[in-house]
Amino acid sequence: MTQTVLVTGSSSGLGRRTAQKFLAEGWNVVATMRDPAQWSGEQSDRLLVQALDVRDEASVTAAVAAATERFGGLDVVVNNAGMGLFSVFEATPQTVIEEVFDTNVYGPMRLIRAALPVFERQGGGRIVNVTSSSATVPNPMQAAYGASKAALTTFSEALAYEVAGLNVQVKVVEPGFVATTGFFAATSKRFESIPAPEAYLPFIQKQIAAFDVQPPAGYFATEDDVAATVLAAATDQTGLSRFRVGGDTLDGAHARRQSDAEYDAWRNTRFAAN
Ligand SMILES: NC(=O)c1ccc[n+]([C@@H]2O[C@H](COP(=O)([O-])OP(=O)(O)OC[C@H]3O[C@@H](n4cnc5c(N)ncnc54)[C@H](OP(=O)(O)O)[C@@H]3O)[C@@H](O)[C@H]2O)c1
Repeated sequence: MTQTVLVTGSSSGLGRRTAQKFLAEGWNVVATMRDPAQWSGEQSDRLLVQALDVRDEASVTAAVAAATERFGGLDVVVNNAGMGLFSVFEATPQTVIEEVFDTNVYGPMRLIRAALPVFERQGGGRIVNVTSSSATVPNPMQAAYGASKAALTTFSEALAYEVAGLNVQVKVVEPGFVATTGFFAATSKRFESIPAPEAYLPFIQKQIAAFDVQPPAGYFATEDDVAATVLAAATDQTGLSRFRVGGDTLDGAHARRQSDAEYDAWRNTRFAAN
């Protein structure tokens, strides 16, 4: 029987590419987004484009109901929708930080809470949560964003124990930097609207300059790489829980596996403040 996947944040970037990948692989796809008019992928009778705002519980519940009504069930949910934040913590309003956590942590929790009863009725299902390499190696000027992705990663791992008895698996996909325009445009816009105190300017300039260093071609993951990794997580038969994608993610994970002193030396070379 054809499997059904629901993907959040399918209007752009990794979510759109992921929805397209599952469609190409023959799945029923519920491509969800805040504004369904933003779907720019192909049409298909295996596609339902559905409104879903991860910050709005009623819209999450309605989207899960629409998915099961249209396709008769739901096998996989992909929590892809997310909000970036690049700013100095001291200057960042608490409301912005709460928006990041509401989108990146409580949003996935809302969808999982809505999907679990469906999975239970069906005898199983899968949750794929898109976190970030910044959950493993926190980046400067992304303290709140990294904290939100680390929270989602930790939540995923602990939840997996609880739901294993329901035959539900929880997978984490951890991309590093991916050149998706939407994420960086939105993040940059927010950065410009959160001016930092002057004392931080040399630090900020240094961090921005670090972005200009070009790694070897193929080092960073592409949208296609991430979409293929989400599909691999959704169909995995090995029991692996964390899927890292991108040279930077793999290097960071390797650095993190060293002793604490070695890891500190590595990150201080990489991100030294002054
Ligand atoms: N790009 C990277 O380097 C990178 C690296 C690691 C992890 N990630 C993660 O990958 C995921 C996708 O990012 P991306 O690079 O594809 O960025 P993107 O193009 O900006 O996509 C983010 C998506 O999230 C959606 N979204 C934001 N708030 C939402 C809400 N309240 N309800 C529903 N959807 C919402 C956006 O929809 P709207 O169109 O409605 O705004 C958009 O479709 C995010 O979780 C991000 O943290 C990205």
